[in-house]
Amino acid sequence: MSYPYGEATKVIHGNHPKNALGALAAPIYQTSTFIFDSAEQGGRRFAGQESGYIYSRLGNPTTSQLEEKIALLEGGEDCIAFSSGMGAISGTLLSLLRAGDHIVADNTLYGCTFALISETLPKFGIETTVLDMSDEAAFQAAMRPDTKLVYFETIANPSMKVIDIEAVASYAHKVAPGCLVVVDNTFATPLLVKPLSLGADIVVHSATKYLNGHGDVVAGFSVARKEIGDTIRMVGLKDITGAVLGPQEAFLILRGLKTLKVRMDGICANALKVVEFLKQAPQVEKVYFPGLPEHPNYETAKKELKQFGGMISFEMRSFEEAKKALNHMKLCVLAVSLGDCETLIQHPASMTHSMYSKEEIEAAGFSDRLIRFSVGLEDADDIIADLKQAFEAAEEK
Ligand SMILES: Cc1ncc(COP(=O)(O)O)c(C=O)c1O
Repeated sequence: MSYPYGEATKVIHGNHPKNALGALAAPIYQTSTFIFDSAEQGGRRFAGQESGYIYSRLGNPTTSQLEEKIALLEGGEDCIAFSSGMGAISGTLLSLLRAGDHIVADNTLYGCTFALISETLPKFGIETTVLDMSDEAAFQAAMRPDTKLVYFETIANPSMKVIDIEAVASYAHKVAPGCLVVVDNTFATPLLVKPLSLGADIVVHSATKYLNGHGDVVAGFSVARKEIGDTIRMVGLKDITGAVLGPQEAFLILRGLKTLKVRMDGICANALKVVEFLKQAPQVEKVYFPGLPEHPNYETAKKELKQFGGMISFEMRSFEEAKKALNHMKLCVLAVSLGDCETLIQHPASMTHSMYSKEEIEAAGFSDRLIRFSVGLEDADDIIADLKQAFEAAEEK
């Protein structure tokens, strides 16, 4: 797909043709269904002999405009919008897998994805091997000639693990031709890495996060080549989940996307300053950030990511101190989710990753002393001052 402009231009203009009446902003087509000119036309549309809208679960012009922009940003042929990130992930996996299939997944995933892969899919007869995919030898040993799908996150939640997409995709395709490599690109966004260009087959997103960026929408995407996209839309979206994104939400994401480049640049710059503070804070034992040379995947992160992102995790000296620090935040907001203008702070072991057992938490490389931080767009000095006062308050007996 050739596009002559840069990323900041892309998120604003996309490549959608002018709207019929010349509206600058995307019109919101708030309709469930579309009127046919004749019974014959309705029949032709259902038979796929004529293009045009039928019913908003099958497609809607506001949503289509958004899907085109996301496909352009990820460099994919097709994008399917869902009403949540989990809708996109379950709709994608369930439409492409069947009983008897084998999949390989990383052990550090968003908690609900982890539950879907490690508990729900096996109930439907899908065999899942879950392991640390940044261990290349272990990953290669887990792959089988009949492995149907490989799943991981670009920057893994919450330990900020970075897996070599190119190496995983080329090995998976060599050992198991036809194996689909699926990457959740929520944390990095297509502005930091484009997994399809590195050999992945499908990119999924929680658009609830950076892509929308304003904490007012829950949404998801799946981006893939056309033939896979057709299956995801016609099976995973239309029949299995029915998790359709509404036109109002599509409009809000189109609006939020216009500032994605400036938001990511600001967030990534703030994150570097916050990391610098955390590194020297006596109350912090360990900082997890892919831009730190001591991070185990620093070399991969340097090669793969344009910037190191806005997500940081850090371990306090004790669970008690971690809890107290969370309760003493004045500016940073105690809430799950991420990628908003507000700095959001949460406790993975008891919140987003509470479905992990103690052993699974250890295997994924974190603990109940870990705090996850989604750096926002406030003044970096204000974020740092808030952390400092909360850490000091947490130390008081
Ligand atoms: C990396 C990642 N993927 C997927 C999801 C699920 O997205 P949603 O909450 O939009 O369903 C989340 C949610 O936090 C996430 O962090």
